Amino acid sequence: MSRLISKGSVELRLPDKTISLPVHQGTEGECAIDISALRRETGLITYDPGFVNTGACASDITFVDGEKGILRHRGYDIEDLAENCLFLEVAYLLVHNKLPNKKEYQAFSRLMNHHSMIHEDMRNFFNNYPEGAHPMAVLSAMVVSLSSFYPEIEREEGHEDLDITVTRLLSKLRTIAAFSYKKSIGEPFVYPSHKYTYCENFLNMMFASPVNDYHPDPVAVRALNLYLVLHADHEQNCSTSVVRFVGSAGSNLYASIAAGICALWGPLHGGANEAVIRMLESIRVNGGNVDRAIERAKSRDPRFRLMGFGHRVYKTYDPRARIAKRACMQLLEKFGVGNDPLLEIALQLEEKALKDEYFVSRNLYPNVDFYTGIAYRAMGIPENMFTVLFALGRLPGWIAHWLEQHSSEQKIGRPRQIYTGETRRPFVPMDERP
Ligand code: CMC
Repeated sequence: MSRLISKGSVELRLPDKTISLPVHQGTEGECAIDISALRRETGLITYDPGFVNTGACASDITFVDGEKGILRHRGYDIEDLAENCLFLEVAYLLVHNKLPNKKEYQAFSRLMNHHSMIHEDMRNFFNNYPEGAHPMAVLSAMVVSLSSFYPEIEREEGHEDLDITVTRLLSKLRTIAAFSYKKSIGEPFVYPSHKYTYCENFLNMMFASPVNDYHPDPVAVRALNLYLVLHADHEQNCSTSVVRFVGSAGSNLYASIAAGICALWGPLHGGANEAVIRMLESIRVNGGNVDRAIERAKSRDPRFRLMGFGHRVYKTYDPRARIAKRACMQLLEKFGVGNDPLLEIALQLEEKALKDEYFVSRNLYPNVDFYTGIAYRAMGIPENMFTVLFALGRLPGWIAHWLEQHSSEQKIGRPRQIYTGETRRPFVPMDERP
């Protein structure tokens, strides 16, 4: 709460009394009514399903202005970071609140290499998953397993070098992600190599094999770097809130992040990138009728939404989607697959939706997931790995939030509810029950 500025108070008038509630302001001017004393003073709680209007914390990490389409990490515009930074620089920025200088970056990269392998006993876990297991299931299980192989985070909490904690997880998650893919297709694992950069290493572990002397394509490496940067953090989204929430109980970093991975998997969150491709593919096989898809999305059919559209915070074009779209078009052109039928369908969907009253009046624009899947396809990444890539990208944000939450006042997350079930009723012994 230290960087919150006091902006006076508001009055809440109740039939029997009036109370004063403090107002706090953040560094970008947004204000919040502090209701922490509300129940104690009035017996009332607030009711806000989905936490649409609830600020769960004060945070220094990421600023989003959903009305203006602004996204900044530690004060830097996403456009600048996407244009100029390696993913590891952004990871460092999120965790340390500063862009690394050359020396810091080199030390960080060295640690990444140092921690890139996973324990051989842990590698054996992969053998016990069925072939075809979704890599997100494997990813979350493996991350929670890290806590038993690398318990230092709990033993030396607060003492371990921050960079070691961070690089251990960043580096190992990349290895686990690639191994989970290899497992899902029944191919032997490819180990990380010190000769590669972060993104090259991932692509090599994904696509090299004993029969394929793979060389990471610089175009794919650049694109992967960009997409990871675009996903690096997004303030209190569902998975990050889960990471903070689990962490608020005192759970360790790995356990908290494993929970975040599970939250991300859902199709309304990070799973949307996979769902977008399934939707586009289904439109294609059914004759490419984009109008029918738009009408279905408007019909309130609970089984169908325009995936990759809409956002809780953005009421204008998602700035990440704008960058992702441009990069996707460039990537497809460079790889000579500019005529991907799914891209054509996506472009038509966007054009029609942005002119349609239903989408316009609800401020529904493409979000970050709308074009990323098409780009990943062009890079040869299979659909079931799309959300894994989201997780790889989001990891530094999750870590930064977990650390921030641990360094501030440790209040366990525990919302209230309005009970709407049965009122007290007499107990009936089993042989008397109808
Ligand atoms: N297609 C059709 N209608 C939609 C859509 C959509 N994609 N998104 C929202 N709406 C409608 C919704 O039916 C509601 O209409 P009405 O006011 O008439 O009841 C209105 O727009 C507001 O929607 P909401 O569900 O109350 O909005 P929300 O903030 O709770 O949900 C969302 C946000 C992202 C879950 C939602 O827009 C959605 O389901 N989108 C599709 C899934 C998706 O692309 N998710 C990725 C989100 S961005 C990356 C990330 O965070 O992972």
